[in-house]
Amino acid sequence: MSTANPTEQTTLTLGKECPQVDFDPFSDAMLDDPFAAYEHYRQIAPVVKLTKYDCYAVLDYHELNIMLTDWENFSSAAGVGLINFHHEKPWRPKSIILEVDPPDHTVSRRVLNRVLSRPAMEKMRQSFAAEASTLITALVARKEFDGIKDLAEVYPLKVFPDAVGLNELGRENLLAYGTLAFNATCPRNHLFEASLQGSESVIAWIMSQCERQALSPDGLGAQIFTAVDRGEVTAVEAAMLVRSLLSAGVDTTINGLGNALLCFARFPQQWRLLKERPELVRSAIDEILRFEGALMNFFRTTSQAVNLGGYHIPKHEKVLVPFAAGNRDPKHWPDAHKFDITRETKGHLGFGGGVHMCVGQMVARLEVELILSQLLQQADTITLAGTPVRRLNNALRGLSSLPLRIA
Ligand code: HEM
Repeated sequence: MSTANPTEQTTLTLGKECPQVDFDPFSDAMLDDPFAAYEHYRQIAPVVKLTKYDCYAVLDYHELNIMLTDWENFSSAAGVGLINFHHEKPWRPKSIILEVDPPDHTVSRRVLNRVLSRPAMEKMRQSFAAEASTLITALVARKEFDGIKDLAEVYPLKVFPDAVGLNELGRENLLAYGTLAFNATCPRNHLFEASLQGSESVIAWIMSQCERQALSPDGLGAQIFTAVDRGEVTAVEAAMLVRSLLSAGVDTTINGLGNALLCFARFPQQWRLLKERPELVRSAIDEILRFEGALMNFFRTTSQAVNLGGYHIPKHEKVLVPFAAGNRDPKHWPDAHKFDITRETKGHLGFGGGVHMCVGQMVARLEVELILSQLLQQADTITLAGTPVRRLNNALRGLSSLPLRIA
């Protein structure tokens, strides 16, 4: 028979109260460099309560992994931002893939899984490779350029909208929309407010591009609409899924490419190693995603009171998922703060985990692989030609400028 009194039993089941901390993951300083803060607060507990936002944050790899794979307790349906759809209205009609749980999620996911399948990638490879070759040849001739404005923004903004089947005109709206969509997942701070400026016309342009008649007949967008003909989704839902591609498929890869260039410019011995062993390019991409992942912060909402890592989180509470904290947790990764393209990266959280794990990851991998492969063929060295400038975003980790020299 148990000797614990009822209060102790409840504590055992529901866990200890989370320590309250004044950590602000959305301050400019933390968005710039959160890693020392992750270490500091992780010493206190794997799950903490952020007093400033009245929400919880999970800092350890182990607990983050549990959360991402347990959609029943850690739901996406109340939004993957700080806004809690149980109490507040979403800033836009909510995503029918990112912000829903199974079984609704399964329907949308099946459609996008098919459109973004391996055979689909093989079809895209040729045109993506040709664009990568042309771009890198031109940059090698210039020798000095901005790794963000001249490369990381140019390439995805050409190949991805082409693949989706968008018009040439107005594609700059994709950047403004991505910035807004990712800033909007977090508090209404100065970054969110700034990206709302002039956003009405941007949102209107995006929505107009998601209609079936606006899309070329051979692109990924048109393929999403074939699910309407099959009776899997409605035309309105298909347009929402095109919107998901446009929200999630551009800024993420721009930052992913920029972060890849930054890693090799900062760690030239790793570039030399990749030159010697180009077959490591795919594992290098995973290490870039672990070390400098482009998606830093999202949220989940508890469906009921839970015990996570021995700590209690009440029902319908927002919980921060800092993917980057899990990816640098020294309890999980030996030499966590070392960029090493030969390391075992299995299980990194750069593309998330569980049912919502990035559905577009093969597109992102293809883009980064083709650019790195061209650089491997055409450049011996990549070095910094100036100081990188960070682009602050509530959810994304990347740069606005990266002066580079290649020889
Ligand atoms: C380096 C580039 C990329 C990174 C780092 C990235 C990261 C992620 C992460 C971490 C998630 C999980 C979100 C969650 O658990 O709530 C996710 C989901 C998603 N990503 Fe990506 N992504 C990238 C590129 C792309 C691309 C190119 C596309 C489109 C072709 C895309 C479309 C999506 C969609 C639609 C989801 C929602 C999936 C679902 O809820 O089932 N992503 N991404």
